[in-house]
Amino acid sequence: MPSAVPQPVVATLTRAAIFLIVTINPGRNNDVAVRSLCASLSSLLRAVGFRDLEGRLSCVMGIGSSAWDRLFGAPRPKDLHPFREIHGVHHAVSTPGDILFHIRATRMDLCFEIAAQIMSRLADAVTVVDEVHGFRYFDERDLLGFVDGTENPLGSDAQQATIIGDEDASFAGGSYVIVQKYLHDLKRWNEVPVEQQENIIGRHKLSDIEQDDAAKAPYAHNVLTSIEENGEQLQIVRDNMPFGEFGKSEFGTYFIGYARAPQRIERMLENMFIGQPPGTYDRLLDFSRAVTGVLFFVPSATFLDAVTPDTTPAGSHQDSTDSADPDKPPTRAASGDGSLGIGSLK
Ligand code: HEM
Repeated sequence: MPSAVPQPVVATLTRAAIFLIVTINPGRNNDVAVRSLCASLSSLLRAVGFRDLEGRLSCVMGIGSSAWDRLFGAPRPKDLHPFREIHGVHHAVSTPGDILFHIRATRMDLCFEIAAQIMSRLADAVTVVDEVHGFRYFDERDLLGFVDGTENPLGSDAQQATIIGDEDASFAGGSYVIVQKYLHDLKRWNEVPVEQQENIIGRHKLSDIEQDDAAKAPYAHNVLTSIEENGEQLQIVRDNMPFGEFGKSEFGTYFIGYARAPQRIERMLENMFIGQPPGTYDRLLDFSRAVTGVLFFVPSATFLDAVTPDTTPAGSHQDSTDSADPDKPPTRAASGDGSLGIGSLK
């Protein structure tokens, strides 16, 4: 069996992105619509992406914890759970979300077109609960004025940080993603002297050079988000995007972090919101409020391609009451042959 092909989690940074989160409406027909989309997503991407090959269109589809049970049942990815709220010095909220579409391209029209194609297929099956259109700002800066993304791992380090291997063999090639929408109080932030802003981030603002370790404040963002296990740095891949709407006076950073285990991102969040040690929290949060928070599992592209509208694989057990109750989740037992039992590979 060839190894599973990951979704384009580690795509290179692009100038435009759409972050679309939907919940699935009640009813089995709606589950069928979502499962049908899983297998057609790759062909939709080919069709839209082919119109501008240099547009680097990609779309990562993530599945929330309860949606996983509803759509696919057992087996489930071992670390998938609802986003855990954090009540620290600041509050990391947990908000609804069954499916995430993380759409990236060099042009917003490509992002928009694939989102339109996806939504026309899902139609009444889903409700959009959050939608952010992000843009790359000057010099890859966030709206706070700092270059964001510099220390992201690249190439095989990025793969190593994000793609599941033998630790959950049934879901190898998958990944986890946490998203949070942060709103900034830009007026107050811009009143903070630049030197103090630099201490909050742990980098120099104009040059983007990292502060010397000895000079960093214990609460610096890059101190609290640098974590280790057995002497090795645990990395994640971020592709944050600025966004803003003048009419709503909303300006922010859409945080998106991929990792092969959600615990990495959760530890960073605890350090930021509670502090490390507790109380030494991330001062960024005095100016930035998290208004959403959701964790998704990102199955491999191989998995998505093999999903069938009716999940029950030939020969596996299905609860006989499924057909009687339109709102009951279908049972998708593993097929017993070591495969995930998601239907035949196309
Ligand atoms: C308001 C939201 C956020 C903003 C504006 C922000 C901004 C930044 C900036 C400017 C940097 C320094 C440049 C770089 O290496 O990218 C950075 C680094 C980093 N951030 Fe954030 N960030 C935010 C939220 C988060 C969250 C929620 C996490 C993780 C849970 C996180 C994880 C990291 C990591 C791992 C680094 C690299 C640290 C290092 O190794 O030097 N960030 N962020």
